Amino acid sequence: MPYVSIKGTGSAVPDNIISNHDLEKMVATNDQWIRERTGIITRRVCDEKTSTFDLAIEASKNALDMSGYKGSDIDMIIVSTTTPDYPLFPSTGALLQNGIGADNIPAFDISAACTGYIYALSSAYSFIHAGMYKRILLVSVDCLTKFIDWTDRSTCILFGDGAGAMVLEASDNPDDESLLAFDIHSDGSGKDLLIVPSGGTKTPINENEIKNKNQYIKMDGPGVFKFAVNVIVKSLTTALHKASLKKEDISYFVPHQANLRIIDYAAKKLKLSSDQVMINLDKYGNTSSASIPLLIDEINRNNTLKKGDIIAAVGFGAGLTWGSAIIRW
Ligand code: UT7
Repeated sequence: MPYVSIKGTGSAVPDNIISNHDLEKMVATNDQWIRERTGIITRRVCDEKTSTFDLAIEASKNALDMSGYKGSDIDMIIVSTTTPDYPLFPSTGALLQNGIGADNIPAFDISAACTGYIYALSSAYSFIHAGMYKRILLVSVDCLTKFIDWTDRSTCILFGDGAGAMVLEASDNPDDESLLAFDIHSDGSGKDLLIVPSGGTKTPINENEIKNKNQYIKMDGPGVFKFAVNVIVKSLTTALHKASLKKEDISYFVPHQANLRIIDYAAKKLKLSSDQVMINLDKYGNTSSASIPLLIDEINRNNTLKKGDIIAAVGFGAGLTWGSAIIRW
């Protein structure tokens, strides 16, 4: 049975920076409130010309460069996103196949909101372990700011745009196994906690929907907060157990970057010290499915990670969806 080794990581964010002070000029908010309630200071926001594909291809090229492989060496592309360039099709995966110059390999998108990376990683793991594909490009990318009502202070302060990518490869050596365990879930009964109400088949966009701003993200922030703190530690504990590891074995905690208070709560429960808890939401805000691989790329490139380190990654978001991955570097 082939094992899975991580050969390269990459990421991309748009150039445009929006600070809390910039937001003060747009909605009734202030820098202090945003810092204290979320931990966010700035976020990166795509301009009109920049799309999900643009960030995805940049992150992919960075990951390919690190891996030493070319696009034509890849035999599957898996993308997690809820904000593709086109609402129905073509998929971001198909666009990337052409963009990186891969052969006519399978390429597809997964929709699991902010848990997208964990879902995509577990899919890549399964395809490689099953012996079906040998070298997979995984890209988690979102441009949620394109779906934000910039007059709604309960959402516009939170989100940013970004992409994270990985090149994963089959290996015959068990010591190369990077993906030790997963725990993934969904609960559609919580669909209304975080939703874009119109624009799909249930409620197409019309004048009335636009008047009610239903084409934008609607969120019950405190409801999502409660859900997140309930599931994170439970899910990570399950994944650690599946990997035959304990809390004490965690080298780095890489949680979805949604809110510093959610992260602090989980870190306290897991008894982690602050140097084990990886954070970049102060710079990027909540980049949805990109947040975990964007952060992993950052700590990989700044040489934080050593061979054998155990990364405990956990995601949660709309659906509801949530899940964890235990990664051995
Ligand atoms: O990827 C997963 C997606 N989402 C999340 O993980 C979000 C999880 N939830 C959260 O991060 C937090 O619930 C928020 C940051 C969204 C909100 O923080 P909160 O501490 O839960 O605030 P709240 O919604 O309970 O609001 C408290 C007060 C309210 O005022 P009153 O009613 O007490 O007078 C809000 O109107 O803060 C007010 N408020 C704001 N004030 C200044 C809400 N948003 C803002 C704002 N600036 N941006």
